[in-house]
Amino acid sequence: MTRITTRSRSVQSKVALITGAASGMGRATAFLFADEGAKVAVTDLDADRVAAVVDRIRNAGGTSHGIALDVTDADAIDAAITEIRSELGPIDIVVNNAGVGAGSPVDNPSFEDEWFKAFDVMLTPHQRVIRACLDDLKASGEGRIINIASTEGIGAQRNMAPYTAAKHGVVGLTRALAVDLGAHGITVNAICPGPIVTGMTEAIPDDMRETFARRRTALRRYGDPEEVAHMTLSLALPAASFITGAIIPVDGGLTAKND
Ligand code: NAI
Repeated sequence: MTRITTRSRSVQSKVALITGAASGMGRATAFLFADEGAKVAVTDLDADRVAAVVDRIRNAGGTSHGIALDVTDADAIDAAITEIRSELGPIDIVVNNAGVGAGSPVDNPSFEDEWFKAFDVMLTPHQRVIRACLDDLKASGEGRIINIASTEGIGAQRNMAPYTAAKHGVVGLTRALAVDLGAHGITVNAICPGPIVTGMTEAIPDDMRETFARRRTALRRYGDPEEVAHMTLSLALPAASFITGAIIPVDGGLTAKND
C-alpha cells in the first residue's frame, strides 16, 4: 500500500558508530543495525574480535567497517572517526556502549583505581566520541546519540560506587546534551539495562544469576543482549524524533519491583 504516515522506521544507509561492539550488547546492536540496513562501524579493544563481528556482518551481506579502538585514548577516538567517515560516510548514529565492571567497597584501597577505571572507560569517552562526531550529527539533521547506562544509573547496589557514580554521570550527560543539542535536531537518550547475559556477567555462576533474577526482576530472568539492542534501534529511528533526554530502563521490571 502507499504509506499514510510520514515518519520512517528505517535506519537503511545510516552510518552507526558503536563502541565496545565485539561482545554482548554492543555486538547484538551491531548485528541488529546491520540487519536493518545501516552501515555499521564496529569498534572495540581487540582487532581480532572486531574483525569477527565485521566478517559476520559482511558474510550476511551487510556493510561494516571495523577499528580497534580503546575509548580511553582521546587521539585514537579522533583518528577512528576520521577513518569511519572516509570508509562509510558521515556518522548519523552514535552508540556509547563500551564498559567494564568497576566496583569496590568505599573503605578498600582499590577504590581509587576502580573509580578512575569507571570514569575513564564509561563516562569521559562518551563526551569525547560525541564531540568528535558533532559536525556529522548536526549535518545529518536526524543525529541520534544513545548512551548505554545501567539500572546503576538510577539506583545503587552495594559496593559498586565507582560504577554507579559513572553510570549516574552518563544519565546526567545524556540530559545535559539533550538540552544543548536539541536545536540541531539531535536526540540524546540513555538506556538503563538491567541484568543481561553478556561478557560482563558470564563469570557469575548460573545459580547466583537465577537467584538474583528471580528476586529482583518482574520477569524473573536475565535479559538477552538483543532485547536491549532493539531499544537502541528504536531510539535511533528517524521516527524517534521527539524522544530526547529520556532515561529508559530495559530491565525486566527491576526498577519497578519493590517487593
Ligand atoms: P561485554 O563485556 O560483553 O561488552 C563490553 C565491551 O566493551 C567488551 O567487548 C569490551 O572489550 C569493551 N571495552 C571495555 N573497555 C573498553 C575500552 N577501553 N575501549 C573500547 N572498548 C572497551 O559487556 P556488556 O554487558 O555488553 O556491556 C555493554 C554496556 O552495558 C556497558 O556499558 C555496561 O556497563 C552496560 N551494562 C551491562 C549490564 C549487564 O548486565 N551486562 C547491565 C547494565 C549495563
